[in-house]
Amino acid sequence: MSSGGEIEADFVVVGCGVAGLRVAIELGSAGARVLVLAKSSLTDSATEWAQGGIAAALSDDDEVSLHVEDTLRAGDGLCDPAAVHVLVEEGPKYILELIEWGTQFDRAGSKLAFTREAAHSRSRVLHAHGDSTGKEIARALLAKARTLSGILLRPHAVTTELLTAGGCVTGLRFLDENSKELMDVTARAVTLATGGLGQVYPETTNPAVATGDGMAIAYESGAVLSDLEFIQFHPTALAVKGAPRFLLSEALRGEGAVLRNADLERFMKKHSEAGELAPRDVVSRAIVAEMQRTRSDFVYLDLTHLKDEYVRKRFPGIFATCQSYGVDITSDLVPVRPAAHYVMGGVRTDLEGRTSLPGLYAAGETACTGVHGANRLASNSLLEGLVFGARAGQAIIKDCKFSSRKKPKWPASRAAVEKPGAKKSAAPANPPSAEAQQLQKVRAIVWKDAGIIRNGRDLKEGLDALAALEPAQSAEPSRSARELRHIWQLAQLIVRSALAREESRGGHYRGDFPFRDDEKFRKHSLVTRGATVTFR
Ligand code: SIN
Repeated sequence: MSSGGEIEADFVVVGCGVAGLRVAIELGSAGARVLVLAKSSLTDSATEWAQGGIAAALSDDDEVSLHVEDTLRAGDGLCDPAAVHVLVEEGPKYILELIEWGTQFDRAGSKLAFTREAAHSRSRVLHAHGDSTGKEIARALLAKARTLSGILLRPHAVTTELLTAGGCVTGLRFLDENSKELMDVTARAVTLATGGLGQVYPETTNPAVATGDGMAIAYESGAVLSDLEFIQFHPTALAVKGAPRFLLSEALRGEGAVLRNADLERFMKKHSEAGELAPRDVVSRAIVAEMQRTRSDFVYLDLTHLKDEYVRKRFPGIFATCQSYGVDITSDLVPVRPAAHYVMGGVRTDLEGRTSLPGLYAAGETACTGVHGANRLASNSLLEGLVFGARAGQAIIKDCKFSSRKKPKWPASRAAVEKPGAKKSAAPANPPSAEAQQLQKVRAIVWKDAGIIRNGRDLKEGLDALAALEPAQSAEPSRSARELRHIWQLAQLIVRSALAREESRGGHYRGDFPFRDDEKFRKHSLVTRGATVTFR
């Protein structure tokens, strides 16, 4: 592998979703030279896939205190209240800023339109183009980033490791997938905003890029990770043979869709007073129970009683995608089952994105501020990326005592770096077959042993099975080899954390410890390289 040389930036941000872009905009606005790396194309992120929306107490009948209450309740006793207050109180300000930057949220007349999602006591979820909220937010953020001359966006750049000196992070190394060269970047701070780790599971609503890179890279360098046992399974992913587990937004249930089992009976009221709008973990477990009872691989989401025209207009993306898999959501019952959707844990940070390693920051799903506790309230994640991304940017400027460059420009123009004609495909890296087989084995273990319902015996078995699957260190760094390693590493951390937490809470359910145990476990799990899982 040839070395492509060195790049000097003021700051480097890994990830091009809502959190990464918001950090970069904060830094770029302060006159810094910011390198933003995306592993795939600039529009290949979980943000782009976010359908339902972004929650904020902005409607006439809503109050910040109610959004705080709902977030704390969803978090099942484990949210950091200070983080929740920051998210909910600062959220509206950053959403209004997004609107100023050109984000087109849907409106009812001249007023913003709000929808309802599970566990929200008010309709407070903003959406765009019906069900393409993340795409619209990413579009506006990318356009804003492009107005700042100091921001250089570099796609197809696979971060392979952090560079450190004397215990501080001083930059990173990445593989340029176009030239196949390794590049070293020196910077005063690195921010990891690579999204989540849904690809650790074989059934996930996440895009192929969601392989937990930021978490794994931080862990390898000695950073503290937290709460990795808390995985949120979305109850309604499309369950059609041969199709990916495409998300069927909770907003569908918010607008009246209902769940039916294989015998076509509604079942949610048996499991929760809140019916279809119960918290996601409750709905997911209810679906698993019904699937088991009726010996079926799926249940149905039923929208057939809603007006066709309304459904097509309100959910154009979902309608079109399902249709491409042969399902007409206005007239067919839609087969669905739960899939891994979001990780509440991640790289432990304070409320300004600082990790346990000087010079290293994290934001968005990659980070764990404690804001989601044991279970994230629907549509709080785009908001998290926005609020905590901006705060991380502000903290970096402050911590590094950065003073503005007069004309923050890069030697090469952005157009040259983004290279028209260079790799554009958003397709996942195509791993060689031995790697692909290993990946499949790792994923199958995590699904079976650390899925929706867990127990100590399976978790121990899973841990042993994973230990035997350590990927060989490849001589030539490649995206697929890195991703396999990251998935394997995070699989073990999820299983270890789930084994250590002998209770059930939020997204973590243990059949052998089915109750919440506040005395022992109203604490966050913490893990670092070479150490056992502890709670604090
Ligand atoms: C959804 O639209 O159901 C997903 C929104 C979220 O995960 O917050």
